[in-house]
Amino acid sequence: MKPKSKPKASKPEVAPQPSVKASKPTTAVSAAEMGARQREISVSEFFTKNRHLLGFDSPRKSLLTCVKEAVDNALDACEEAGILPEVIVKLEPVSTDGVMPVPSQATRFRITVIDYGPGIVREQIPPIFAKLLYGSKFHRLRMSRGQQGIGISAAGMYAQLTTGKPVQIISRTGPKKPAHYFEVQIDTKKNEPRILEKKQVDWEPHRGTQVTIEIEGRYQKGRASVDEYLELTSIANPHVRLVYQTPEGETKEYPRTYHQLPPPPREIKPHPYGIEFGMFLKMLHDTRSHWLSGFLVGDFSRISLTLAEEICKNAKIHPHARPRDLHGDRAEALYKVLQATKIMAPPSNCLSPIGEQGILTGLYKQIQGDFYTAVSRPPAVYRGNPFVIEAGLAYGRGPEEATKKNEETEAPLAEGEEREREEDLARVIRYANRVPLLYQQSACATFKAALDTNWRNYGVAQSKGALPAGPMVVFVHMASVWVPFTSESKEAIADYDEIRKEIRLALQECGRRLGIFLRRRERAKSEFRRRNIFELYIEEVAEACGRLKGGKLPVNRLKEQLQKIAVKRTGGEQTDQVLGKTGSGPEGLPHSIIVTPEGVEGALPILDGGVPGYLINEATREAAGSSLGPSSEKPPGKPAVQRRKRKGK
Ligand SMILES: Nc1ncnc2c1ncn2[C@@H]1O[C@H](COP(=O)(O)OP(=O)(O)OP(=O)(O)O)[C@@H](O)[C@H]1O
Ligand SMILES: [Mg+2]
Repeated sequence: MKPKSKPKASKPEVAPQPSVKASKPTTAVSAAEMGARQREISVSEFFTKNRHLLGFDSPRKSLLTCVKEAVDNALDACEEAGILPEVIVKLEPVSTDGVMPVPSQATRFRITVIDYGPGIVREQIPPIFAKLLYGSKFHRLRMSRGQQGIGISAAGMYAQLTTGKPVQIISRTGPKKPAHYFEVQIDTKKNEPRILEKKQVDWEPHRGTQVTIEIEGRYQKGRASVDEYLELTSIANPHVRLVYQTPEGETKEYPRTYHQLPPPPREIKPHPYGIEFGMFLKMLHDTRSHWLSGFLVGDFSRISLTLAEEICKNAKIHPHARPRDLHGDRAEALYKVLQATKIMAPPSNCLSPIGEQGILTGLYKQIQGDFYTAVSRPPAVYRGNPFVIEAGLAYGRGPEEATKKNEETEAPLAEGEEREREEDLARVIRYANRVPLLYQQSACATFKAALDTNWRNYGVAQSKGALPAGPMVVFVHMASVWVPFTSESKEAIADYDEIRKEIRLALQECGRRLGIFLRRRERAKSEFRRRNIFELYIEEVAEACGRLKGGKLPVNRLKEQLQKIAVKRTGGEQTDQVLGKTGSGPEGLPHSIIVTPEGVEGALPILDGGVPGYLINEATREAAGSSLGPSSEKPPGKPAVQRRKRKGK
């Protein structure tokens, strides 16, 4: 609003005052009216409005998120209870107008996930499935797939929002216990469960949980699909048996290839370096210890009594002071001393990394290639939280493709000319606590580290600022007691320097081994070609010499001698070894597998049925007798490290 007259130059300029006569906007409200409108917002109401924050934006992604939340919970529950996980996933299109749609056109799906884990006690079923921020994992520092206590109830809330259908649960905690059936929904105003149905039912499995959710969704194969999620889950969890009934009615099985559970991660106390001041104050006031020294020793990891007393002395507070009495400056001084004191890094037995053998097993089972390698880094720390980075590589198109390529005659190149290769960019598969991450790749620290790595050093083409080119799958896993996700939908890992550095180191080691393999293979191939040419002439030369000597020459002996010279001159046994012709392992390449048309070398896993997952077809599955019931447990044993010919090719 303009003032009526210009202010005089001599007077200090004042902000124009609104004219008294100006009409009051009809929407203006008084503070009292505003005050009367203030209301508490329930967490369910908030996330109903903001469901995209939890991964429920597009119908396709929502279908994936629901499956992911249920499968992650099933795996967490089985592992925590010490049961080798076996999970059944069923996706069924649902008709909305009486006509059954084809899966790619369907807009509604029924998702059923069954596990044979510990089951859930009856009283806990309604809040677990119909109350947001309710769970057993948030308040502890222990590696698990779930963290927040939102996952499965958010999936139920999405079902309620899009189809109005309740979540159906059957759970049983043991053979002598009854199976309980529940139908629940969330009362979004109160964030409390509403039970629509509860009864005891007959359920065949002796223990476990079955969750059924009906949602609006879309089914499409390919990148970031349910199919890809299950395939990648199987790579990072070789101890899991997954059976997947696709919407098309097919049954895919991802067999268990590792018959042992990963070592159970231990729960730890927070490390002093990891906590913020507000958190520290809360701990001071919530502790059960009566003395400050007891609080420091009991509520944190890596603080001994001597160290606690030293910290108290430096902060000028008596070790027997009551933690609850510490406020303001005294608490702040204590916090500062704590942060400045040298304290051992947190223990790493709270983590359960996949391990080199596990990664190799998973990659070899699911991805066709010529070379596989895996690296597990030692534990490191970010903001006081311990973490481990693991990386792996699968390179090449597999021996059949390689043979095909060799058979194709390549036209000779002019000098300076380079052969044009149909190279795609590498694919990065990312994991956090064994869960595949399928969205927001470019925001993820793992992806950034893969870009940062100079792959040209290892003989792989790479354009500036791009992923390396070539038939290559790069695997990265972060295991931590608290994975720093960039959002609640748990899709990308935040870019902490310490994390990025560890990923880069792991990738560099994988790259170095790949470089050795590629160089050796190239050299061996050219030596082998030379040897073949020699061998071609040995026959002729020996026969001609025999004729010259009038048949008196022992032709066969001469041939043998020339053969030996040819082998010696063309790299000897080393060439045979690199090309997989001797049966010995890939020397100088730890935790690696080399696949050639002649066979497989290195730290090889034994696969169920002896066939890698990507080669399993209907016939082999039928032969293996796959069923939807719990499979008979195999005796646990160590994963075999062996050498063998690859079958099923
Ligand atoms: N299949 C199951 N078997 C046994 N317990 C389960 C199962 N599914 C869920 N739970 C229990 O229910 C709790 C809540 O699950 P929910 O998915 O909502 O949260 P979360 O897994 O703790 O964390 P996040 O939100 O990150 O997934 C879990 O902490 C777990 O204790
Ligand atoms: Mg969960």
